[in-house]
Amino acid sequence: MRKVKTQVAIIGAGPSGLLLGQLLTRCGIENVIVERVSGEYVLGRIRAGILEQGFVELAREAGAAERLDQEGAVHEGFSIAQGDRVHRIDLKALTGGDVVVCYGQVEVTRDLMGLRADAGAMTFYQAEDAMIYEPLSSSPRVKFRHEGEELELACDFIAGCDGFHGISRQVIPASTRTEHERVYPFGWLGVLSETPPVDDEIMYCKSQRGFALASMRSSTRSRYYLQVPMDEKVEDWSDTLFWAELRRRLPKVAVEQLVTGPSIEKSIAPLRSFVCEEMRYGNLFLVGDAAHIVPPTGAKGLNLAASDVATLYRVLRMVYEEGDRSGLARYNEVALRRVWHGERFSWWMTNMLHDYGDMAVDGMAGSTFSRFMQSQLDYYLGSEHGQRVIAEQYVGLPYEQI
Ligand code: APR
Ligand code: PHB
Repeated sequence: MRKVKTQVAIIGAGPSGLLLGQLLTRCGIENVIVERVSGEYVLGRIRAGILEQGFVELAREAGAAERLDQEGAVHEGFSIAQGDRVHRIDLKALTGGDVVVCYGQVEVTRDLMGLRADAGAMTFYQAEDAMIYEPLSSSPRVKFRHEGEELELACDFIAGCDGFHGISRQVIPASTRTEHERVYPFGWLGVLSETPPVDDEIMYCKSQRGFALASMRSSTRSRYYLQVPMDEKVEDWSDTLFWAELRRRLPKVAVEQLVTGPSIEKSIAPLRSFVCEEMRYGNLFLVGDAAHIVPPTGAKGLNLAASDVATLYRVLRMVYEEGDRSGLARYNEVALRRVWHGERFSWWMTNMLHDYGDMAVDGMAGSTFSRFMQSQLDYYLGSEHGQRVIAEQYVGLPYEQI
């Protein structure tokens, strides 16, 4: 068995693992990433791309924002449509200057991969059967197989950045973790197309036929989503059907601008709220999707991953640069506080904008629940205070200092 030693072992080369790795490498903290699939596979996963200011600043601190700063589109607002009525949430005005940046997660990942390769930091792609040993000890280990060889990675700390289906969370005994979960009775059918977007800002659309989202990746590439029943099959949705249904759900002003074309990606994603408490087990720290999932309404998934990364990065710098280990015990509390705010916001936005039909929710008929949510949306959109509540959370609550 080949033995490798490092300071921080990172499991998973998604945005969480790569961003943490880059930040640590920049300040001289040695780290090794162990990833189950290939780099190309990681880059093939289409995800959202709305970045909070906190994310952008962290990427700058990581030296990973060069292309993001050049190519990312600053969005000073977004819209919520109710039928044909469009309400613009003026993020900049309502928050006193804050905005979000539209830059695809795939691009963030690509940039971070490039920097890691340039820095010569060690990454094992296509690593099989990764297992964590002795997370409670001062010398935890990760064992895995790579190109037929058995490896043992000895480290001081393990960052479990291996997403919702990873192994890290399972290492925490069931008796010391509580999992909170809500699975929504619908999914999002997404289409990517090489067509100009209907607007230069994102539009969340509540319609009688269900929710739709008009988003983009660039001025020539659009991303659209439709709320669909959770058991829907992507094969049953031809491009023609998709565009026809989208037309029925977008407000008139958007339909007038809609340019359709062949889809270059089409997939259905389930909607789930999930939080694992605790996010720390000895010297194992869960980061990003490994610990929590949000429904995509509100675009918080990647941004919550980034705030975990920011917190763990500070904690590890305190350990290695100042010999101060007090932050280790605070990671869980600090990370979870912000995670819950993102969870609540995403759950709230999902409930307000989706149609529950006749499905029972919270002990009442879906139609009754939807009526409450309709009233809630009317109230928040009709009040400047209400709009400010939406805006403040959409741009991202501040990171807590540790
Ligand atoms: N061993 C090694 N790597 C693993 C294992 C394993 N057993 N299991 C999973 N992984 C890898 C996956 O292949 C994936 O590349 O961990 C990575 C996790 O990446 P993501 O799922 O992208 O999670 P994260 O980096 O936390 O990013 C959060 O991604 O899912 C979106 O909405 C989410 O935008 C948010 C962001
Ligand atoms: C996307 O562009 O994929 C996107 C944007 C905003 C969301 C979710 C997804 O809330």
